[in-house]
Amino acid sequence: MEITIYGSGYVGLVTGACLAQVGNDVLCVDIDPKKIDMLNNGEIPIYEPGLEQMVRENAAAGRLKFTLDPAQGVKHGLYQFIAVGTPPDEDGSADLSHVLAVARSIAEHMDEYRIIIDKSTVPVGTADRVADQIRETLAKRGLDIEFDVVSNPEFLKEGAAIDDFMKPDRIVIGTDNPRTTELMRAMYAPFNRNHERVISMDIRSAELTKYAANSLLATKISFMNELSNLAERLGADIEAVRIGIGSDPRIGYHFIYPGCGYGGSCFPKDVQALERTAAEVGYKAELLSAVEAVNYRQKERLFEKMTAHFGDVAGKTIAVWGLAFKPNTDDMREASSRTLMEALWAAGAKVRAYDPVAMTECEHIYGQRDDLCLCQSADQALEDADALAILTEWQEFRSPSFEMIKSKLNNAVIFDGRNLYDPDQLKSQGFIYYAIGRGES
Ligand SMILES: NC(=O)c1ccc[n+]([C@@H]2O[C@H](COP(=O)([O-])OP(=O)(O)OC[C@H]3O[C@@H](n4cnc5c(N)ncnc54)[C@H](O)[C@@H]3O)[C@@H](O)[C@H]2O)c1
Repeated sequence: MEITIYGSGYVGLVTGACLAQVGNDVLCVDIDPKKIDMLNNGEIPIYEPGLEQMVRENAAAGRLKFTLDPAQGVKHGLYQFIAVGTPPDEDGSADLSHVLAVARSIAEHMDEYRIIIDKSTVPVGTADRVADQIRETLAKRGLDIEFDVVSNPEFLKEGAAIDDFMKPDRIVIGTDNPRTTELMRAMYAPFNRNHERVISMDIRSAELTKYAANSLLATKISFMNELSNLAERLGADIEAVRIGIGSDPRIGYHFIYPGCGYGGSCFPKDVQALERTAAEVGYKAELLSAVEAVNYRQKERLFEKMTAHFGDVAGKTIAVWGLAFKPNTDDMREASSRTLMEALWAAGAKVRAYDPVAMTECEHIYGQRDDLCLCQSADQALEDADALAILTEWQEFRSPSFEMIKSKLNNAVIFDGRNLYDPDQLKSQGFIYYAIGRGES
């Protein structure tokens, strides 16, 4: 099948590579010349496990191509995926300018039937806006060409994106046209062999399903973070509580880890956008506001613990392990590490940071600065630091040599935003250990 994908970011590139992997002829269109140049030279602009090889193989086989030219994109595929960014606008609502720009550009070049598929996370009603944009643009060209707009939200997780796309939990297809459902089913057939994964519904429900999923996951995290703050005050251990409640199958163990807040390109912006959508239809979404407020506060917890410990952090140097918002990605959008580092800098402290893959991204965001040293290894980050802070639960941080940590730090103090270690063990090794919801050891 011939497929065009607009946007070669985390979602668009994975979608393109996976659709090419099963034999389709895929053309990826982006507006970023640097990105397209890199991709055409076999380089991958983002880190995602397995993606580089998949892109290279499919590009070499001629099934995956990259271009800056939208006209070529429109001509190429019956299926036209929109996978561009929908960042938060100033008021927190989703900025649809990129999505609508793609819709306009499709209509500017379209001369036969096309299926336009919203894969970007977009508020309820966006498919109607995309359809209006296409109709208007076609009308300006004096044309009335048939097309369908489908909502097909993406549920992949960065860090496991290829697996999620190749073996999805569900393929949500929102359309009002049964023929389009069949065309979408045919395209997704290679990913739907093991058992039925297609869930078809009306367009608005599909659009809302994506926000519902992310908001519920964010709610679970904020709930546990709220309880972790309570546990600290009550002398309880949130990790024991987590296991105690996770054993109830109605609750389950997934997504109930307490920590220093959620980040990434999805949860923060999607919770905010749903809240804005609610406000626009005259509904005050109190739970969503609380989820967001709890997360905002939680991202400041490590800094609060540091100031409580040191009194004043001015002149201190903090080793930071983990910059990405979660392991197995280089994505630092809304990462908790950013909240901490920015608070430390504002207070006159220095940071020595290490992340297995997000160092380039960090440099890209913050550039060269005197109060940030990007270190080549976890060990190096500890040198001459006054404390260690853990922000991302990368596997390589899970079982370090505590003797080595102690020998390198000026003070044996760890602020653990991901609850990786056993407080009793650290205490017996002479550390002062601050975790989330576990008191101080
Ligand atoms: N990242 C995730 O884990 C994830 C998961 C599910 C859904 N989503 C949603 O998918 C969408 C894309 O997210 P992402 O993380 O891939 O974004 P991203 O920022 O990584 O990539 C977006 C890409 O779109 C390109 N672009 C912008 N305007 C364009 C245009 N007019 N034509 C062609 N390309 C254009 C940009 O240059 C960029 O390369 C968002 O709506 C996001 O909420 C993301």
